[in-house]
Amino acid sequence: MGCLRGWLMVILMVSALRLAVMVESVQPKAACKFAAMYNFGDSNSDTGGGSAAFQPIPWPYGRTFFHKPVGRDSDGRVLVDFIAEQVGLPYLNAYLNSIGANFSHGANFATGGSTIRRQNETIFQYGISPFSLDVQIWHHDQFKSRTKDLYDQAKSSCQRSLLPRHEDFSKALYTFDIGQNDLSVAFRTMNDDQIHAAIPNIISQFSSAVQHLYEQGARSFWIHNTGPIGCLPVNLFYITNPKPGFLDKFGCIKGQNDKAIEFNKQLKDAVTKLRTQLPKAALTYVDLYSAKYGLISKAKSQGWADPMKVCCGYHEKDGHVWCGQKGVITNGSTVFGGVCKNPELHVSWDGVHHTEGANHWFANQILNGSLSDPPIPITHACYRN
Ligand SMILES: *[C@@H]1O[C@H](CO)[C@@H](O)[C@H](O)[C@H]1NC(C)=O
Ligand SMILES: *[C@@H]1O[C@H](CO)[C@@H](O)[C@H](O)[C@H]1NC(C)=O
Ligand SMILES: *[C@@H]1O[C@H](CO)[C@@H](O)[C@H](O)[C@H]1NC(C)=O
Ligand SMILES: *[C@@H]1O[C@H](CO)[C@@H](O)[C@H](O)[C@H]1NC(C)=O
Repeated sequence: MGCLRGWLMVILMVSALRLAVMVESVQPKAACKFAAMYNFGDSNSDTGGGSAAFQPIPWPYGRTFFHKPVGRDSDGRVLVDFIAEQVGLPYLNAYLNSIGANFSHGANFATGGSTIRRQNETIFQYGISPFSLDVQIWHHDQFKSRTKDLYDQAKSSCQRSLLPRHEDFSKALYTFDIGQNDLSVAFRTMNDDQIHAAIPNIISQFSSAVQHLYEQGARSFWIHNTGPIGCLPVNLFYITNPKPGFLDKFGCIKGQNDKAIEFNKQLKDAVTKLRTQLPKAALTYVDLYSAKYGLISKAKSQGWADPMKVCCGYHEKDGHVWCGQKGVITNGSTVFGGVCKNPELHVSWDGVHHTEGANHWFANQILNGSLSDPPIPITHACYRN
Protein backbone atom coordinates (compact mmCIF):
# COMPACT_ATOMS: atom_id res chain seq x y z
CA MET A 1 0.00 0.00 0.00
CA GLY A 2 1.46 3.35 -1.03
CA CYS A 3 1.86 6.18 1.40
CA LEU A 4 -0.56 8.34 -0.51
CA ARG A 5 -3.23 5.66 -0.42
CA GLY A 6 -2.62 5.11 3.28
CA TRP A 7 -3.05 8.79 4.04
CA LEU A 8 -6.16 8.92 1.91
CA MET A 9 -7.61 6.08 3.97
CA VAL A 10 -6.83 7.88 7.20
CA ILE A 11 -8.40 11.08 5.91
CA LEU A 12 -11.47 9.19 4.73
CA MET A 13 -11.75 7.38 8.04
CA VAL A 14 -11.39 10.59 10.03
CA SER A 15 -14.06 12.26 7.90
CA ALA A 16 -16.36 9.30 8.33
CA LEU A 17 -15.80 9.45 12.06
CA ARG A 18 -16.55 13.19 12.04
CA LEU A 19 -19.73 12.58 10.12
CA ALA A 20 -20.76 9.91 12.60
CA VAL A 21 -20.13 12.31 15.50
CA MET A 22 -22.12 15.04 13.75
CA VAL A 23 -25.03 12.71 13.04
CA GLU A 24 -24.85 11.58 16.65
CA SER A 25 -24.98 15.14 17.97
CA VAL A 26 -27.91 16.25 15.83
CA GLN A 27 -29.77 13.04 16.61
CA PRO A 28 -32.48 14.44 18.90
CA LYS A 29 -33.04 12.87 22.27
CA ALA A 30 -36.52 11.50 22.83
CA ALA A 31 -38.91 13.86 24.57
CA CYS A 32 -39.13 13.27 28.33
CA LYS A 33 -42.13 11.30 29.50
CA PHE A 34 -43.22 13.36 32.46
CA ALA A 35 -45.73 11.28 34.36
CA ALA A 36 -46.93 14.20 36.47
CA MET A 37 -46.34 17.84 37.24
CA TYR A 38 -46.03 19.57 40.60
CA ASN A 39 -46.11 23.36 40.73
CA PHE A 40 -45.10 25.79 43.47
CA GLY A 41 -45.88 29.47 43.19
CA ASP A 42 -48.13 32.48 43.52
CA SER A 43 -51.03 33.93 41.51
CA ASN A 44 -48.97 33.72 38.33
CA SER A 45 -49.48 29.94 38.42
CA ASP A 46 -52.42 29.44 40.82
CA THR A 47 -55.08 27.18 39.26
CA GLY A 48 -57.58 27.31 42.12
CA GLY A 49 -55.71 27.07 45.44
CA GLY A 50 -56.38 30.62 46.59
CA SER A 51 -60.03 30.38 45.51
CA ALA A 52 -60.47 27.10 47.39
CA ALA A 53 -58.93 28.44 50.60
CA PHE A 54 -60.36 31.97 50.60
CA GLN A 55 -62.83 34.04 48.64
CA PRO A 56 -63.26 32.71 45.10
CA ILE A 57 -61.98 34.84 42.23
CA PRO A 58 -65.09 36.41 40.60
CA TRP A 59 -66.39 36.86 37.07
CA PRO A 60 -65.18 38.15 34.55
CA TYR A 61 -62.00 36.20 35.44
CA GLY A 62 -61.92 33.06 33.28
CA ARG A 63 -64.31 34.44 30.65
CA THR A 64 -62.13 33.98 27.57
CA PHE A 65 -61.15 30.33 27.82
CA PHE A 66 -63.09 28.60 30.60
CA HIS A 67 -66.17 30.86 30.23
CA LYS A 68 -66.47 31.02 34.03
CA PRO A 69 -64.16 31.85 36.94
CA VAL A 70 -61.89 28.85 37.65
CA GLY A 71 -59.53 30.16 40.32
CA ARG A 72 -57.09 31.66 37.87
CA ASP A 73 -55.99 35.29 37.97
CA SER A 74 -56.52 35.86 34.26
CA ASP A 75 -59.26 35.87 31.65
CA GLY A 76 -58.08 32.40 30.62
CA ARG A 77 -55.13 30.09 30.90
CA VAL A 78 -52.04 30.90 32.95
CA LEU A 79 -48.49 29.91 32.04
CA VAL A 80 -48.60 26.62 33.96
CA ASP A 81 -51.60 25.57 31.81
CA PHE A 82 -49.55 26.08 28.64
CA ILE A 83 -46.73 24.08 30.22
CA ALA A 84 -49.13 21.22 30.97
CA GLU A 85 -50.37 21.29 27.37
CA GLN A 86 -46.82 21.24 26.03
CA VAL A 87 -45.74 18.21 28.06
CA GLY A 88 -49.02 16.40 27.35
CA LEU A 89 -50.56 16.46 30.80
CA PRO A 90 -53.99 17.60 31.98
CA TYR A 91 -54.36 21.02 33.67
CA LEU A 92 -53.30 20.85 37.29
CA ASN A 93 -55.82 20.73 40.09
CA ALA A 94 -55.07 22.73 43.18
CA TYR A 95 -53.96 20.68 46.19
CA LEU A 96 -56.26 22.79 48.38
CA ASN A 97 -59.30 22.08 46.22
CA SER A 98 -61.25 19.38 48.02
CA ILE A 99 -64.11 19.14 45.54
CA GLY A 100 -63.94 17.11 42.36
CA ALA A 101 -60.17 17.23 42.08
CA ASN A 102 -58.22 14.66 40.08
CA PHE A 103 -54.58 14.34 41.08
CA SER A 104 -53.61 11.44 38.83
CA HIS A 105 -51.06 13.58 36.97
CA GLY A 106 -49.94 15.99 39.64
CA ALA A 107 -51.06 18.83 41.83
CA ASN A 108 -50.61 22.55 42.14
CA PHE A 109 -49.46 23.96 45.48
CA ALA A 110 -49.42 27.58 44.31
CA THR A 111 -51.77 30.17 45.80
CA GLY A 112 -52.30 33.80 44.87
CA GLY A 113 -50.26 36.03 47.16
CA SER A 114 -47.70 33.39 48.11
CA THR A 115 -44.14 34.35 48.97
CA ILE A 116 -40.90 32.40 49.36
CA ARG A 117 -40.41 33.63 52.94
CA ARG A 118 -43.02 33.57 55.65
CA GLN A 119 -44.51 37.01 56.13
CA ASN A 120 -45.81 38.56 59.32
CA GLU A 121 -49.13 39.70 57.93
CA THR A 122 -52.50 38.18 57.18
CA ILE A 123 -54.14 37.86 53.78
CA PHE A 124 -56.76 40.40 54.93
CA GLN A 125 -54.21 43.23 54.94
CA TYR A 126 -52.50 43.20 51.55
CA GLY A 127 -53.50 39.80 50.15
CA ILE A 128 -50.32 37.97 51.18
CA SER A 129 -51.05 34.23 51.35
CA PRO A 130 -50.22 32.20 54.46
CA PHE A 131 -49.08 29.43 52.08
CA SER A 132 -45.47 30.50 51.69
CA LEU A 133 -43.08 28.18 49.86
CA ASP A 134 -42.13 26.23 53.00
CA VAL A 135 -45.83 25.56 53.67
CA GLN A 136 -46.32 24.49 50.04
CA ILE A 137 -43.48 22.00 50.63
CA TRP A 138 -45.31 20.67 53.72
CA HIS A 139 -48.39 20.29 51.54
CA HIS A 140 -46.35 18.40 48.96
CA ASP A 141 -44.90 16.01 51.53
CA GLN A 142 -48.29 15.33 53.02
CA PHE A 143 -49.82 14.92 49.57
CA LYS A 144 -47.16 12.38 48.69
CA SER A 145 -47.49 10.24 51.80
CA ARG A 146 -51.28 10.35 52.00
CA THR A 147 -51.87 9.59 48.34
CA LYS A 148 -49.57 6.58 48.67
CA ASP A 149 -51.70 5.20 51.53
CA LEU A 150 -54.93 5.95 49.69
CA TYR A 151 -53.65 4.41 46.46
CA ASP A 152 -52.63 1.22 48.27
CA GLN A 153 -55.99 1.01 50.03
CA ALA A 154 -58.14 1.98 47.00
CA LYS A 155 -60.99 -0.46 46.42
CA SER A 156 -61.47 0.24 42.72
CA SER A 157 -59.53 1.32 39.67
CA CYS A 158 -61.81 4.35 39.52
CA GLN A 159 -60.66 5.48 42.98
CA ARG A 160 -57.08 4.87 41.99
CA SER A 161 -57.52 6.90 38.80
CA LEU A 162 -57.82 10.07 40.90
CA LEU A 163 -54.47 9.49 42.58
CA PRO A 164 -50.86 9.69 41.44
CA ARG A 165 -48.79 6.52 41.32
CA HIS A 166 -46.05 6.65 43.92
CA GLU A 167 -43.33 5.82 41.41
CA ASP A 168 -44.35 8.82 39.29
CA PHE A 169 -43.05 11.42 41.76
CA SER A 170 -39.49 10.92 40.58
CA LYS A 171 -40.63 11.07 36.94
CA ALA A 172 -42.50 14.33 37.43
CA LEU A 173 -41.71 17.83 36.31
CA TYR A 174 -41.37 20.23 39.26
CA THR A 175 -42.13 23.82 38.27
CA PHE A 176 -41.62 27.06 40.21
CA ASP A 177 -42.81 30.62 39.76
CA ILE A 178 -42.42 32.48 43.03
CA GLY A 179 -40.66 35.52 44.46
CA GLN A 180 -42.64 38.39 42.99
CA ASN A 181 -44.57 38.90 46.23
CA ASP A 182 -41.43 38.83 48.36
CA LEU A 183 -40.44 41.87 46.33
CA SER A 184 -43.84 43.55 46.51
CA VAL A 185 -43.85 43.20 50.32
CA ALA A 186 -40.30 44.51 50.40
CA PHE A 187 -41.22 47.62 48.37
CA ARG A 188 -43.91 48.32 50.95
CA THR A 189 -41.89 47.69 54.10
CA MET A 190 -38.16 48.12 53.40
CA ASN A 191 -35.69 50.65 52.06
CA ASP A 192 -33.22 49.83 49.28
CA ASP A 193 -30.45 48.71 51.64
CA GLN A 194 -32.82 46.42 53.53
CA ILE A 195 -34.07 44.87 50.29
CA HIS A 196 -30.50 44.35 49.13
CA ALA A 197 -29.74 42.64 52.43
CA ALA A 198 -32.89 40.46 52.31
CA ILE A 199 -32.50 38.96 48.82
CA PRO A 200 -29.78 36.40 49.72
CA ASN A 201 -32.00 35.03 52.49
CA ILE A 202 -35.03 34.81 50.17
CA ILE A 203 -32.92 32.95 47.60
CA SER A 204 -31.44 30.60 50.18
CA GLN A 205 -34.94 29.62 51.34
CA PHE A 206 -35.80 28.91 47.71
CA SER A 207 -32.74 26.67 47.37
CA SER A 208 -33.72 24.79 50.53
CA ALA A 209 -37.11 24.00 49.00
CA VAL A 210 -35.50 22.57 45.85
CA GLN A 211 -33.00 20.62 47.93
CA HIS A 212 -35.79 19.15 50.05
CA LEU A 213 -37.74 17.98 46.97
CA TYR A 214 -34.57 16.43 45.56
CA GLU A 215 -34.10 14.46 48.77
CA GLN A 216 -37.69 13.30 48.31
CA GLY A 217 -36.80 11.98 44.84
CA ALA A 218 -37.61 14.91 42.53
CA ARG A 219 -35.23 15.15 39.57
CA SER A 220 -36.54 17.56 36.91
CA PHE A 221 -36.88 21.20 37.92
CA TRP A 222 -38.15 24.05 35.74
CA ILE A 223 -37.61 27.37 37.50
CA HIS A 224 -39.04 30.70 36.30
CA ASN A 225 -37.27 33.82 37.39
CA THR A 226 -39.34 36.80 38.46
CA GLY A 227 -40.87 39.27 36.00
CA PRO A 228 -40.40 43.01 35.56
CA ILE A 229 -42.57 43.92 38.55
CA GLY A 230 -42.01 47.63 37.89
CA CYS A 231 -43.97 47.25 34.63
CA LEU A 232 -47.17 46.09 36.37
CA PRO A 233 -49.78 48.83 35.98
CA VAL A 234 -50.81 48.43 39.66
CA ASN A 235 -47.49 49.91 40.72
CA LEU A 236 -48.18 52.99 38.58
CA PHE A 237 -51.81 53.66 39.57
CA TYR A 238 -50.93 56.16 42.27
CA ILE A 239 -47.87 57.74 40.69
CA THR A 240 -48.76 61.17 39.41
CA ASN A 241 -45.67 63.24 38.64
CA PRO A 242 -42.69 60.88 38.33
CA LYS A 243 -39.27 62.54 38.62
CA PRO A 244 -37.07 62.30 35.52
CA GLY A 245 -35.40 58.88 35.44
CA PHE A 246 -38.00 57.25 37.72
CA LEU A 247 -39.56 55.47 34.76
CA ASP A 248 -37.75 53.76 31.91
CA LYS A 249 -38.55 54.40 28.24
CA PHE A 250 -41.49 51.97 28.33
CA GLY A 251 -43.02 53.57 31.45
CA CYS A 252 -41.86 50.91 33.95
CA ILE A 253 -40.53 51.77 37.42
CA LYS A 254 -36.80 51.41 37.00
CA GLY A 255 -35.93 51.01 40.69
CA GLN A 256 -38.38 48.11 41.09
CA ASN A 257 -37.15 46.33 37.97
CA ASP A 258 -33.58 46.72 39.21
CA LYS A 259 -34.54 44.75 42.36
CA ALA A 260 -36.14 42.05 40.21
CA ILE A 261 -32.94 41.87 38.14
CA GLU A 262 -30.85 41.58 41.31
CA PHE A 263 -33.17 38.83 42.60
CA ASN A 264 -32.88 37.00 39.28
CA LYS A 265 -29.10 37.22 39.17
CA GLN A 266 -28.87 35.63 42.61
CA LEU A 267 -31.51 33.04 41.70
CA LYS A 268 -29.54 32.04 38.63
CA ASP A 269 -26.34 31.72 40.69
CA ALA A 270 -28.24 29.62 43.24
CA VAL A 271 -29.49 27.27 40.50
CA THR A 272 -25.93 26.91 39.18
CA LYS A 273 -24.78 26.01 42.69
CA LEU A 274 -27.64 23.53 43.11
CA ARG A 275 -26.45 21.74 39.97
CA THR A 276 -23.18 20.92 41.67
CA GLN A 277 -24.88 19.96 44.95
CA LEU A 278 -27.59 17.76 43.39
CA PRO A 279 -25.75 15.43 40.99
CA LYS A 280 -28.84 13.74 39.57
CA ALA A 281 -30.98 16.86 39.14
CA ALA A 282 -31.84 18.45 35.80
CA LEU A 283 -32.35 22.11 36.74
CA THR A 284 -33.56 24.56 34.11
CA TYR A 285 -33.48 28.27 34.91
CA VAL A 286 -35.97 30.18 32.74
CA ASP A 287 -35.55 33.88 32.03
CA LEU A 288 -39.24 34.75 32.06
CA TYR A 289 -38.25 38.33 32.91
CA SER A 290 -36.88 38.77 29.38
CA ALA A 291 -40.00 37.27 27.82
CA LYS A 292 -42.25 39.64 29.79
CA TYR A 293 -40.11 42.71 29.27
CA GLY A 294 -39.80 41.70 25.61
CA LEU A 295 -43.55 41.88 25.15
CA ILE A 296 -43.75 45.25 26.88
CA SER A 297 -41.03 46.64 24.64
CA LYS A 298 -42.55 45.20 21.45
CA ALA A 299 -46.24 45.67 22.31
CA LYS A 300 -46.66 48.81 20.23
CA SER A 301 -44.99 47.47 17.09
CA GLN A 302 -46.85 44.14 17.32
CA GLY A 303 -50.29 45.73 17.52
CA TRP A 304 -51.03 45.22 21.21
CA ALA A 305 -52.85 47.79 23.36
CA ASP A 306 -50.78 50.04 25.65
CA PRO A 307 -49.21 47.54 28.11
CA MET A 308 -49.62 50.07 30.94
CA LYS A 309 -53.42 50.08 30.49
CA VAL A 310 -55.47 47.35 32.14
CA CYS A 311 -58.21 45.39 30.37
CA CYS A 312 -60.38 44.67 33.40
CA GLY A 313 -61.22 47.13 36.17
CA TYR A 314 -61.84 50.85 36.40
CA HIS A 315 -58.66 52.85 36.96
CA GLU A 316 -59.06 56.55 36.32
CA LYS A 317 -58.23 59.84 38.01
CA ASP A 318 -61.60 59.75 39.78
CA GLY A 319 -61.18 56.34 41.33
CA HIS A 320 -60.00 52.75 41.29
CA VAL A 321 -62.35 49.77 41.12
CA TRP A 322 -60.75 46.35 40.79
CA CYS A 323 -61.66 43.83 38.12
CA GLY A 324 -64.91 42.08 39.00
CA GLN A 325 -65.63 44.42 41.95
CA LYS A 326 -68.09 47.24 42.48
CA GLY A 327 -66.91 50.53 43.94
CA VAL A 328 -67.84 54.16 44.45
CA ILE A 329 -65.85 56.80 42.57
CA THR A 330 -65.25 60.46 43.47
CA ASN A 331 -68.54 61.82 42.09
CA GLY A 332 -70.50 59.33 44.19
CA SER A 333 -71.62 56.97 41.46
CA THR A 334 -71.12 53.22 41.68
CA VAL A 335 -68.94 51.64 39.02
CA PHE A 336 -68.32 47.98 38.10
CA GLY A 337 -64.75 47.02 37.26
CA GLY A 338 -65.67 45.51 33.92
CA VAL A 339 -63.82 44.12 30.97
CA CYS A 340 -62.37 45.87 27.89
CA LYS A 341 -63.51 45.31 24.31
CA ASN A 342 -60.53 43.28 23.08
CA PRO A 343 -58.90 41.30 25.89
CA GLU A 344 -56.78 39.43 23.32
CA LEU A 345 -54.97 42.70 22.50
CA HIS A 346 -54.16 43.52 26.13
CA VAL A 347 -51.01 42.59 28.01
CA SER A 348 -52.33 43.37 31.49
CA TRP A 349 -55.60 41.78 32.56
CA ASP A 350 -56.24 43.42 35.92
CA GLY A 351 -53.17 45.53 36.65
CA VAL A 352 -51.30 42.73 38.44
CA HIS A 353 -51.86 39.70 36.20
CA HIS A 354 -51.58 39.04 32.50
CA THR A 355 -54.25 38.18 29.96
CA GLU A 356 -54.41 34.72 28.47
CA GLY A 357 -53.14 36.28 25.24
CA ALA A 358 -50.01 37.58 26.97
CA ASN A 359 -49.51 34.29 28.85
CA HIS A 360 -49.71 32.42 25.55
CA TRP A 361 -47.14 34.77 24.05
CA PHE A 362 -44.80 34.20 27.02
CA ALA A 363 -45.29 30.44 26.69
CA ASN A 364 -44.24 30.58 23.03
CA GLN A 365 -41.09 32.44 24.05
CA ILE A 366 -40.00 30.17 26.89
CA LEU A 367 -41.16 26.63 26.10
CA ASN A 368 -38.72 26.08 23.22
CA GLY A 369 -35.80 26.80 25.54
CA SER A 370 -34.53 29.95 23.87
CA LEU A 371 -34.59 31.79 27.23
CA SER A 372 -33.46 28.84 29.34
CA ASP A 373 -30.19 27.89 30.96
CA PRO A 374 -29.33 25.30 29.70
CA PRO A 375 -31.07 26.21 26.40
CA ILE A 376 -33.26 23.12 26.09
CA PRO A 377 -37.00 22.98 25.44
CA ILE A 378 -39.36 22.00 28.25
CA THR A 379 -40.00 18.67 26.54
CA HIS A 380 -36.34 17.82 27.27
CA ALA A 381 -36.11 19.28 30.78
CA CYS A 382 -35.47 15.82 32.27
CA TYR A 383 -31.96 15.64 30.79
CA ARG A 384 -29.03 16.88 32.79
CA ASN A 385 -26.38 18.29 30.46
C1 LIG B 1 -41.35 38.22 61.01
O1 LIG B 1 -41.17 38.47 62.39
C2 LIG B 1 -40.13 37.70 62.99
C3 LIG B 1 -40.15 37.95 64.49
O2 LIG B 1 -40.20 39.32 64.76
C4 LIG B 1 -38.80 38.10 62.33
O3 LIG B 1 -37.75 37.33 62.87
C5 LIG B 1 -38.90 37.85 60.82
O4 LIG B 1 -37.71 38.28 60.19
C6 LIG B 1 -40.09 38.56 60.23
N1 LIG B 1 -40.23 38.16 58.83
C7 LIG B 1 -40.22 38.99 57.80
C8 LIG B 1 -40.32 38.41 56.45
O5 LIG B 1 -40.17 40.20 57.92
C1 LIG C 1 -58.53 11.41 36.33
O1 LIG C 1 -57.75 11.93 35.25
C2 LIG C 1 -57.14 10.92 34.44
C3 LIG C 1 -56.26 11.61 33.42
O2 LIG C 1 -56.93 12.59 32.72
C4 LIG C 1 -58.23 10.03 33.81
O3 LIG C 1 -57.63 9.01 33.05
C5 LIG C 1 -59.09 9.44 34.92
O4 LIG C 1 -60.16 8.72 34.34
C6 LIG C 1 -59.65 10.54 35.81
N1 LIG C 1 -60.39 9.90 36.90
C7 LIG C 1 -61.68 10.15 37.14
C8 LIG C 1 -62.34 9.36 38.23
O5 LIG C 1 -62.32 10.98 36.50
C1 LIG D 1 -69.61 60.10 37.53
O1 LIG D 1 -68.48 59.79 36.75
C2 LIG D 1 -68.67 58.70 35.84
C3 LIG D 1 -67.34 58.40 35.19
O2 LIG D 1 -66.74 59.53 34.64
C4 LIG D 1 -69.74 59.08 34.81
O3 LIG D 1 -69.94 57.99 33.93
C5 LIG D 1 -71.04 59.37 35.58
O4 LIG D 1 -72.01 59.82 34.66
C6 LIG D 1 -70.81 60.45 36.64
N1 LIG D 1 -72.02 60.54 37.46
C7 LIG D 1 -72.49 61.68 37.90
C8 LIG D 1 -73.71 61.58 38.76
O5 LIG D 1 -71.97 62.76 37.64
C1 LIG E 1 -38.46 30.05 20.19
O1 LIG E 1 -39.66 30.69 19.90
C2 LIG E 1 -39.54 32.11 19.75
C3 LIG E 1 -40.93 32.69 19.59
O2 LIG E 1 -41.66 32.02 18.61
C4 LIG E 1 -38.62 32.40 18.56
O3 LIG E 1 -38.46 33.80 18.43
C5 LIG E 1 -37.27 31.75 18.79
O4 LIG E 1 -36.44 31.93 17.67
C6 LIG E 1 -37.44 30.26 19.07
N1 LIG E 1 -36.15 29.71 19.47
C7 LIG E 1 -35.74 28.48 19.15
C8 LIG E 1 -34.40 28.07 19.68
O5 LIG E 1 -36.42 27.73 18.48
